[in-house]
Amino acid sequence: MLRLHALNTHYGPSHILQGVDLHVPAGRICALLGRNGVGKTTTVRTIMGLTPPTSGQILLDGQDIAGWAPHKVARAGVAYVPEGRLIFPDLSVLENIRVGERKPAKIWTLDRLLTLFPSLRERSGNRGWQLSGGEQQMLAIARALVSDPRVLLLDEPSQGLAPMVVRELGSVIQRLCLEGVTILLIEQNMKLAEAVADELHVMVKGRVVYGASPDIFRTEADAVRARYLAI
Ligand SMILES: Nc1ncnc2c1ncn2[C@@H]1O[C@H](COP(=O)(O)OP(=O)(O)O)[C@@H](O)[C@H]1O
Ligand SMILES: [Mg+2]
Repeated sequence: MLRLHALNTHYGPSHILQGVDLHVPAGRICALLGRNGVGKTTTVRTIMGLTPPTSGQILLDGQDIAGWAPHKVARAGVAYVPEGRLIFPDLSVLENIRVGERKPAKIWTLDRLLTLFPSLRERSGNRGWQLSGGEQQMLAIARALVSDPRVLLLDEPSQGLAPMVVRELGSVIQRLCLEGVTILLIEQNMKLAEAVADELHVMVKGRVVYGASPDIFRTEADAVRARYLAI
């Protein structure tokens, strides 16, 4: 579904992505782990066209979308939930969702979203700033879904959330996948990634250096942590 091939991205003179190869198969949850500063956010920004790559391919169902403008990437079926959520504090829950709506949703209608996120239905008239961290994350996901994406890019959704809320987030991610959304999950929370992902990958210094199924990952987790993830 989504395949990154030999992707290079620079910020000015800094060479950040140094030949990223990654395959996110249709209908799967693919996790990308890695220490701070290795290029995870740059990877999703590059896919979205927010920071265009200097070379390499981003194949979406075989079509190379590298360098496309963000709105075009979105229209092609990719949605992005940024790190830190970035919801609008002064807009209501419903207004925040509508911001992500380009045309009336066919798959993720407002009613379906509010059924998926009952706490957002309860708080639909509240302003963004009045929500808990978990509710803000669900809102950021709802805002991305309203564009009916085929692929959802989640950048560290568990950041700052309590363990119970992280588990809830995990079931939402799995539910979305069952409903046909392909997911690239950027995470620092190995436990969440291990619990939900069909494949786990690790990025080090702008390259994907490791990939495994959860079964294999579990047997190698300590070594992977020590080698690639420990600070
Ligand atoms: N806008 C920017 N301009 C210059 N350098 C940046 C910018 N954003 C990120 N970087 C640098 O790119 C590297 C990768 O950052 P990032 O992709 O945010 O890492 P991660 O998400 O894995 O923590 C870091 O060294 C960071 O300092
Ligand atoms: Mg990041």
